[in-house]
Amino acid sequence: MVPPYKTLLEVLREDMGLTGTKHGCELGECSTCGVLVDGKPFLSCLSMPLDLEGREITTVEGMSADGRSHPLQIAFAELGAAQCGYCTPAMLLTAKALLDRDPHPSREAIMEALAGVLCRCTGYLKIFEAVELAAARTGIAAR
Ligand code: FES
Ligand code: FES
Repeated sequence: MVPPYKTLLEVLREDMGLTGTKHGCELGECSTCGVLVDGKPFLSCLSMPLDLEGREITTVEGMSADGRSHPLQIAFAELGAAQCGYCTPAMLLTAKALLDRDPHPSREAIMEALAGVLCRCTGYLKIFEAVELAAARTGIAAR
């Protein structure tokens, strides 16, 4: 049950307390508000929950399972890929969507997949390396 005038971003943060999803431009330009809908990246600031009835929505809070962090979360922490951390939830989820469909992503594929998620701290190199490390640790080396 959600107020029909609220965006998915507002419902997640304000009504459900899932503040891992971040509030950025609200214009569809930064992807900081990114979540996964049925496993694909989706901008929560432009989405109305009523349009998503029956769909599976994953936020960064849903990336860990049984108290264990996702390999991407571990790799981001180890390599310092999260700087201020504001873009990190959307980066993690977008990278998860990539690895779920392509466990062997090239550097170019990683760059393309993450291109829409703007990092204000601008340190993309560690982010790309962390995605490659997570891919390698899940059994298949990134190429
Ligand atoms: Fe949604 Fe910027 S906050 S795209
Ligand atoms: Fe600061 Fe990306 S880590 S915005």
